[in-house]
Amino acid sequence: MRIMLAPMEGVVEHHVRDILTRIGGLDGCVTEFIRVTDQKLPYKVFYKFAPELESGCNTPNGTPVRVQLLGSKPEPMAINALELVNYGAKAIDLNFGCPAKTVNSHEGGACLLRTPDRVYSIIKAVRDAVPVEIPVTAKIRLGYEDRSSYMDNARAVEAAGANELTVHARSKVDGYKPPAYWHYIADIRAELKIPVVANGEIWTVEDYLRCCEQSAGVDVMLGRGLLSRPDLARHIKAHLNNEDYTPLTWPEICTMLYDYYRLTTPLYCERNCGNRVKQWLMYLSRQYPQATVFFEAIKRKTTPSELETCFQDALAACSAIRQ
Ligand SMILES: Cc1cc2nc3c(=O)[nH]c(=O)nc-3n(C[C@H](O)[C@H](O)[C@H](O)COP(=O)(O)O)c2cc1C
Repeated sequence: MRIMLAPMEGVVEHHVRDILTRIGGLDGCVTEFIRVTDQKLPYKVFYKFAPELESGCNTPNGTPVRVQLLGSKPEPMAINALELVNYGAKAIDLNFGCPAKTVNSHEGGACLLRTPDRVYSIIKAVRDAVPVEIPVTAKIRLGYEDRSSYMDNARAVEAAGANELTVHARSKVDGYKPPAYWHYIADIRAELKIPVVANGEIWTVEDYLRCCEQSAGVDVMLGRGLLSRPDLARHIKAHLNNEDYTPLTWPEICTMLYDYYRLTTPLYCERNCGNRVKQWLMYLSRQYPQATVFFEAIKRKTTPSELETCFQDALAACSAIRQ
């Protein structure tokens, strides 16, 4: 069985991939989507989204990273996929699930699910352009307005030559609202020969087990669940191996978050320097009540020195607990 880290635009950038893969249990990652229009993109764009191109397309701990492209035109998608491979990409993932208005109004992302023949053409063009040893994978939702086109799109993905399909088990209109409709994935798995990865709404080990049962398979991709429990993949694997497992404690999470803050602070202008940490804390709040308290403490702080003070207070409180 495999557990993949989901692509999340504006959230799961390479520092987050590094931190989460170091915690463990993950077999692969996908970058945020890189938007393709008509042009061949310059290396600096690819590098911005996938700095792992410089290290064999692996995270620092050696976990493989696929590079995701999003676009609506077969030829530019093929040209950019080949360009990426020439720059060192080891696998290309194609996005057919993005619900964003700006993306859909340019006919990219989930709106392509209304026309399975266009899904086919894009994947086929990319598959034909890149060397056969480079996996081309696709990520879809169950449909656009409703879920009725799920099998047509899944068949199109396989017929076009994709090596793997990930299914976020909701339509575009379902958005991110629970539940995820995992049982549709069982139908897809029964029909397709390529591996199918289940995605959506897995927050706990119990959710994982229910997803496996309903989707009739074991490979999954985790997004928000891993941000709220950074060791969820490790926990799932320990459970499957009948090993005892102690989840990460708040002091461990707080230390991880501080490392993330220190790494990413120089990348943002001063006013935005705490935004990424605040965003992650929102996800962590679901699992760690202390994250809610910490979020309340930092939510209006904007300068590096204020944020540093808040972190030092939180870490001191953590070490007081430890003693
Ligand atoms: C903030 C955010 C950004 C996302 N960005 C992407 C993306 O760049 N590419 C993609 O294929 N899916 C993207 N997704 C969808 C996730 O990969 C995943 O399919 C979805 O969150 C459901 O999985 P989860 O319930 O485990 O989070 C995004 C989701 C969120 C919440």
